[in-house]
Amino acid sequence: MADRVTAFAPASIGNLAVGFDMLGLALDGVGDRVEARRTDGDAIMIDAVFGLDGEPHPYLPTDVGSNTASIAAQSFWQAHGDQGGAALTIRKGVPLQSGMGSSAASAVAAVVAVNGLLDEPLPAARLLMYALEGEKFASGGLHADNVAPSLLGGMVLCPESLLPDTVRLAVPDGISAVLLHPELQVNTAQARKHLLRSVSVPLWLEQQGYLAAFIAACAANDHALIARTLRDVVIEPQRAEAVSCFEAVRDAAMRGGAAGCSLSGSGPSIFALVTSAHASNVATSMEQACRAMGIDCQSWVSSMSAPGARVED
Ligand code: HSE
Repeated sequence: MADRVTAFAPASIGNLAVGFDMLGLALDGVGDRVEARRTDGDAIMIDAVFGLDGEPHPYLPTDVGSNTASIAAQSFWQAHGDQGGAALTIRKGVPLQSGMGSSAASAVAAVVAVNGLLDEPLPAARLLMYALEGEKFASGGLHADNVAPSLLGGMVLCPESLLPDTVRLAVPDGISAVLLHPELQVNTAQARKHLLRSVSVPLWLEQQGYLAAFIAACAANDHALIARTLRDVVIEPQRAEAVSCFEAVRDAAMRGGAAGCSLSGSGPSIFALVTSAHASNVATSMEQACRAMGIDCQSWVSSMSAPGARVED
């Protein structure tokens, strides 16, 4: 029986332009870590929360009922925990309110860590609904487009109507994801409250066509069709204005040859899908465009097959 387990869960791109609340992509090289250690108690507690700078986080709650990670871990432990409890140490690697699935990464890493304490850990797919409990608390809605890719890796289709089942999608060869995080913040729960409650049937049909054709294009490795279909005509127009650098960054990405560019989740992060050979140049152009607007930023280039959450040695 393990006494201590550390898990890593990657950041992710929610929506991926075409699939609001139901499509997401895991990212390489950026994520949260949670260590779980066994305790004599009978529940989950939090030992500490550290920020990106490695220092104790100034305001993320250590109260079990208010932290995404502990809420998720607690819901898992109530259902599957054995004797005793567990205490969590949360190390943030994903900026908060970044549109990079920060709360999902914490929730996923926490559930994977406490699952790892068990003699017979559950398979990853069985952890999804527990991690979603944490995400639901943070964003005020039941959407798995960050949790599912963070947990399972790659590109995942996860409409609410199919949960807990999800569909791991084929990704195209030779295309990478570029993610730019401008030093701005968007509160997802607030951003969701401002969305229109309904859209017209013609708009719905247009977006549905893009989603279906994009998924088919990825499976068929059809880069031209990916470029025609990676579009969000419903949600992006409602959110883009809140991210002052969006237009400039998107124009830079498209000029650099990106197949498409949109907000990551509710923003402020912006992603582009780009031929892998050009991805780092496009990332540089996006950064330059962002900085030209006086906004500092950071970018990552990721495979579209990034692995999902895992237990670390
Ligand atoms: N699908 C969610 C939204 C993702 O767009 O509100 C939040 O990162």
